[in-house]
Amino acid sequence: MTKSPASVEFRSVTKRYGSVTAVDDISFTIEPGSLVTLLGPSGCGKTTTLRLIAGLEMASSGRILIGGKDVTRLSAAERDVSMVFQSYALFPHLSVLENVAYGPTVQGLPKHRAREMALEKLALVGLQGLERRSPSELSGGQQQRVAVARALVLEPQVLLFDEPLSNLDAKLRRRVRDDIRELQKRLNLTVAYVTHDQEEALAVSDRIIVMSDGRIAQSGTPRQLYEEPANLFVADFIGDANLVDGVVVEERGERALVRIDGITIEVPRRGAGLGPVRLAVRPTAVLLQRTGPGRQAVEGRIAKAAYLGKHAEYLVASPMGELFAIDRADGPLLEEGAPVWISLADREVAIVPSAEG
Ligand SMILES: Nc1ncnc2c1ncn2[C@@H]1O[C@H](COP(=O)(O)OP(=O)(O)O)[C@@H](O)[C@H]1O
Ligand SMILES: [Mg+2]
Repeated sequence: MTKSPASVEFRSVTKRYGSVTAVDDISFTIEPGSLVTLLGPSGCGKTTTLRLIAGLEMASSGRILIGGKDVTRLSAAERDVSMVFQSYALFPHLSVLENVAYGPTVQGLPKHRAREMALEKLALVGLQGLERRSPSELSGGQQQRVAVARALVLEPQVLLFDEPLSNLDAKLRRRVRDDIRELQKRLNLTVAYVTHDQEEALAVSDRIIVMSDGRIAQSGTPRQLYEEPANLFVADFIGDANLVDGVVVEERGERALVRIDGITIEVPRRGAGLGPVRLAVRPTAVLLQRTGPGRQAVEGRIAKAAYLGKHAEYLVASPMGELFAIDRADGPLLEEGAPVWISLADREVAIVPSAEG
């Protein structure tokens, strides 16, 4: 890219549609050249947020800045932003090349120049040789690349992706996801990326903004969200968590001794005082043993077992409630109904500070 990437900043932005508040007083910053994901369940306001960045929707209140410049009242055409839509929105009657050259042509650039720019971007996304085809003669992954080339052709300051993998089959998803991330890094692009898939978000993002009901539930690096979820919603949405009750029985500076049924573990205190707390226990922190009784272990029973190649997944009935466990060990599968002794790895167990979900 010849242009330097721009930041995106929301200052207390709200978007209402009649009585529906789709985006509710949100503030965040996307640093130049970084990929930030808006993650959350369907209807939480992700697409609306992207459309607000693009200027396809106008904010009801608040301010939006791109590259430090206030664009709140500017139309989509006046903002230097491109969007890759969920459906790709390619013109079926135009060739691949014509699809990509369309933007510069409409902007009034000479035909040969528009063509040159389109060819350059098609090479960038690895589609050289396919310029004359029509979109219907391409695979889903290739169509996606055409959509990306078209979004890049005018070298926007900010590139937006709305669930770009949702029309691809499971196998292609990982590759296209990695391609997008690689391109973003190589070209030093500022990208806002929308998905409802937490695994996808963890894989591609510099930072993640978790949204719930039009608000920001938490933002941070993938690791921060996974290791220090701010509330139950984030704990449950990112990386799967068992939510269990425990009691802080001793404060040890920055750490706390927590009792969960018959098990006592030491975890980061995260501001909790003595007394009841809720904890997020990652599936890999639930350790299962065939024989017992053990110290620091409680008895449970395998309710469901599934072998998935590299690991096994279990639902375990226990005094802590039903626990979801992932066992990476390569021993024999535990059978449904089998008694087990459950202990907890203290890594991957986190006190969740805010009780509301
Ligand atoms: N044009 C619109 N008119 C009325 N309500 C809308 C419109 N667009 C979105 N909404 C509502 O705003 C909320 C957020 O929608 P959206 O941003 O599309 O969520 P997401 O992309 O996270 O699924 C939803 O309740 C949706 O029904
Ligand atoms: Mg959406």
